[in-house]
Amino acid sequence: MRRIERSVIFNKNIYQWWDIETVYKPIHNSAGMTDDEMFADVEPFRIKMVEPIKIPSSEERERSLKEAGLNVFLVKGENIFIDLLTDSGTGAMSDRQWAGLMMGDETYAGSRNFYNLESAVADILGFEYVLPCHQGRGAENVLHTALIKDGDVVPGNTHFDTTKAHIEHKKGKAIDCTIDEAADPYIDLPFKGNVDLNKLEAVYKEYGKEHIPFTVITATCNSGGGQPVSMENMRAVYKLSQKYGILVCLDGARFAENCYFIKKREPGMEKYSIKEIAKLQADCFDLMTMSAKKDAIVNIGGFVATRHAEIYDKIKNFGILFEGFVTYGGLAGRDLEAMAIGLYEGVDQDYLAYRIGHVRYLGEQLKEQGIPVLWPPGGHAIYLDMKKFLPHIPPEQFPGMAFCAYLYLESGVRGVEIGTLLNGRDPETGLNRPAKLELVRLTIPRRVYTHRHLDFVVKAVMKVWEKKDQIKGFELSYESPVLRHFTAQFKWVE
Ligand code: F0G
Repeated sequence: MRRIERSVIFNKNIYQWWDIETVYKPIHNSAGMTDDEMFADVEPFRIKMVEPIKIPSSEERERSLKEAGLNVFLVKGENIFIDLLTDSGTGAMSDRQWAGLMMGDETYAGSRNFYNLESAVADILGFEYVLPCHQGRGAENVLHTALIKDGDVVPGNTHFDTTKAHIEHKKGKAIDCTIDEAADPYIDLPFKGNVDLNKLEAVYKEYGKEHIPFTVITATCNSGGGQPVSMENMRAVYKLSQKYGILVCLDGARFAENCYFIKKREPGMEKYSIKEIAKLQADCFDLMTMSAKKDAIVNIGGFVATRHAEIYDKIKNFGILFEGFVTYGGLAGRDLEAMAIGLYEGVDQDYLAYRIGHVRYLGEQLKEQGIPVLWPPGGHAIYLDMKKFLPHIPPEQFPGMAFCAYLYLESGVRGVEIGTLLNGRDPETGLNRPAKLELVRLTIPRRVYTHRHLDFVVKAVMKVWEKKDQIKGFELSYESPVLRHFTAQFKWVE
C-alpha cells in the first residue's frame, strides 16, 4: 500500500514537470512580457512599519509658507505632505539595516563596523583605503583641503553645488566639461552626463597637472538632471587623465543607479551583473567621494575611498581634524554598519529595477499630461522645465522658486529649485548667474513613497499647470553669501 502511494506521488511529480515543459513553457515563451518587463517597477519589498503623515490644511500651508519667507526649504517637515525635496538621507532602511544598528560597536578606535564597511567598499568598489565621513560634503571638505590649492582648477561634468562650493572655498575653480547636448532638456540620449573629451583635454593643456589636482565625474550627474555617464566615457576620461598625469575622482553618491543605466543602455554591458559593473566603473577612478545618504540608503554617512596609499596618507589627517578618528569619521559604529549593509542593498538588481522604474513612472505620467519634463528621466528625480512651464518669469525672478511655492500651496508637495537661485552669484561680478537649465526637481526618496503617492504628485502638478499664466515671479528679500538657496527669503513681484 505504502509503495503504491509513493509511486503515485512520484508519477504526479513527473507529470507536473512534464506539464511545465510541454504545456506552460511554449505558451510562456510565445508572446507577452519578459520577466524584466513584468517586474520593472514593482516594489521588491513589503512594508513592515508605517509612518503616518498628516495632511496639512490649506490654511496651514498658507501660514507655513508665509512664515518661511516663501522658500519651501524653510517649511517645517511636519507641514509637508509628500516631500520630494531630496533623495538624500530620506530613504527607508531595511530590516537588515535596522538589525545592523543593534550591532554597533561603539569603540572609539577600531570599531568592528568600520572593518565591515572597509570590506564592503573593497568588495563592491575595489578601493582598499576608506576614510569614513559624516556625509558627502564632509568627504569633499577633507579631500579638497588636502589636494586643492589657491588658483587650481577642477574640471568635471556639472559639479554638484556642494562640490563647487568646496572647490571655491579652497580658492579653486570648477570647470564644466559636460557634453553640449546635456543643455538641451529634450534630446533623448542614453548618457547625457558624459564628459566632452575635447573640452577636458583643452583644460588639461591650458592648466597642466600642476594646477589640476583631480578631475571629478559625478555619476549619475545630479545637477545635469540625474543623467548617467557611460562606461565608455569614464574609461576614456581615465585614459586621457593618465596621459596627463591627473587623478580622477568619482562623486559616487548615485554610483549604483549609474551602473543600472549602464547595464540597460550600453551595448555589451548587459551581460554583467550590477556588482560587476560597479567594480568596472570604479576601475576608472583613483578615488571616490561618497554621500552614502543616497545609494547606500542610510540616513547619514559618507566616505572618501582610494586605491592609492599616498592619497590616503594625505587625507587622513584632515579626516581626523574635521570628522573624527579614521575608523569612525563623525559617525557612530551603528551608522557604519547600516552603511556597509546598505551598500550591498544599493547594488541589488531587483531594487534598482524598481528604483529607476518608479522614478520613470512619475516622468511618464507627467509627460503624458503635456508637462515639460527633462528627458530621459533621471535616476533619482524628475526635473520640470521652468523655461517652458513659466516662460513669462525671467531667471532673476526665480521661476523655479515661484513654482515650488504654488505646488506647496496647492498640495503640500515639496519640490526643489535647481536653477538660477541655486547657481548663485558670480564671485567676480556679484551678478546672478542665470542657469543654463531652469529646473524644479521632484526627487524621489528610496523605498518611501508608493506609486499612488506619485499619482497624487501628478494631480498636484496639474493643478499648478492649470493656473500657470497667473503665477508671478519672486524678488529676494534676504540672501546669504554662500549656498543662498538654503536660507533665502522672498516677496512676490507686483
Ligand atoms: N555629490 C552629489 C552628487 C550630491 O548629490 C550631493 C548631495 C553631495 C555630493 C553632497 O552630499 O549631502 O551628503 O553632503 N546632494 C543632496 C541633494 C543634498 O539633494 O541632491 P551630502
